[in-house]
Amino acid sequence: MKTIPIRDISQLQGSAYNHPPAHADDTLVGVSRGTAAGEYLRRYWQPVGLSSEVTERPQMVRVLGEELVLFRDKAGRAGLLYPRCMHRGTSLYFGKVEEEGIRCCYHGWLFSVEGHCLNQPCEPDGGQHRESARQPWYPVEERYGLVFAYMGPPEKKPVLPRYDILEDLEDGEFIEVVGDGFAGYADRVEDPHIPYHWLQNWENVVDPYHVHVLHATFSGIQFAEGFKVMPRVEFEPVESGVIYHAYRNFADGRSMDRINSALLPNISAIPEVDLSAGRGRWIGWHVAVDDTHFRGFFAVRTSKGGSFEPFKMHNGKSWLELSEKEKQDFPGDYEAQGGQGPVNLHSDEHLATSDRGIGMLRRMMKKQIAIVAAGGDPLGVHFDESEALVKIRSGNFYAEAGVREATPA
Ligand code: FES
Ligand SMILES: [Fe+2]
Repeated sequence: MKTIPIRDISQLQGSAYNHPPAHADDTLVGVSRGTAAGEYLRRYWQPVGLSSEVTERPQMVRVLGEELVLFRDKAGRAGLLYPRCMHRGTSLYFGKVEEEGIRCCYHGWLFSVEGHCLNQPCEPDGGQHRESARQPWYPVEERYGLVFAYMGPPEKKPVLPRYDILEDLEDGEFIEVVGDGFAGYADRVEDPHIPYHWLQNWENVVDPYHVHVLHATFSGIQFAEGFKVMPRVEFEPVESGVIYHAYRNFADGRSMDRINSALLPNISAIPEVDLSAGRGRWIGWHVAVDDTHFRGFFAVRTSKGGSFEPFKMHNGKSWLELSEKEKQDFPGDYEAQGGQGPVNLHSDEHLATSDRGIGMLRRMMKKQIAIVAAGGDPLGVHFDESEALVKIRSGNFYAEAGVREATPA
């Protein structure tokens, strides 16, 4: 075979021809039962719907790689059941809700929200053995206007956490929630299942540098002028997650410490993106739908409402109003995170100094995944109601020039 002589060795280097096949980090990306990360995620309560949208009309939900039927019985209890009727397998999606549960359309077996079979109308005496029948089910609880499900081993069910940001509401305050935003400030999308892996969306929470580039200099000012200032960043591991401080000195003499939290397993507390002063008011859950989709749930404490109006952040347009070319010209989080692909290929990455927070978060996650695999309880999981309260650091804290920020602990 004849080869062309190459004088400069650098011409041989970096060719895409020599690029090895890329792959995701298997430890981090699983969501289904039996995968390392899927078992870890199952040890925590996950939001699966908005209370206001869980009605007597059964709906299918997809979460952690499982298809489930979600409904509310006529007594007001939310239920989350395996959809294939235990009798002969038709879907409870076509069931009808009654006072005590959901009745299968095919032969009328009636199941409570905990899967107990209450009636089998075609069987003698309404089913002499119905008490031994159980439709597979998951426990649900409602709080903050969200329906949370626990999909892990029943004997390991923790208490449903409370978050200080959403507790002790003052007069006139209430909590607004959304379950179809890929980020709290972004457009409402028709299909809430965003087509990329949940971790790409959650890791972004500890990436303060992208706020400066993507949201302030590359695409113009998407949130606030102040993000143009390159921050000095400190990452800090906290009890069950990672926070960052992004310190900025502004031309008007003020300085600011912006604190952002990412808490295990998939929670965020992002302060106001208009850089207004004060403690953060938002909690986000970046929920794994399946291996290549996630769903964002956000709750915010507010006294004025309207928190989820589309944000005109891309050249004066909301994301849904952008053409394909405008998405190239004014990309935002969806483009940057979705651009990593349906699942990020971690073997291709070159993490740098600015990615310390992401490294911390992944190491913390891997440690917890190993703890769960070894039969232990991961960080942030508690079994006593007295330990349910989670204190979260989040906010934009200002100080006069030269004064070290009095940042609340
Ligand atoms: S398949 Fe559901 S009652 Fe027969
Ligand atoms: Fe962002």
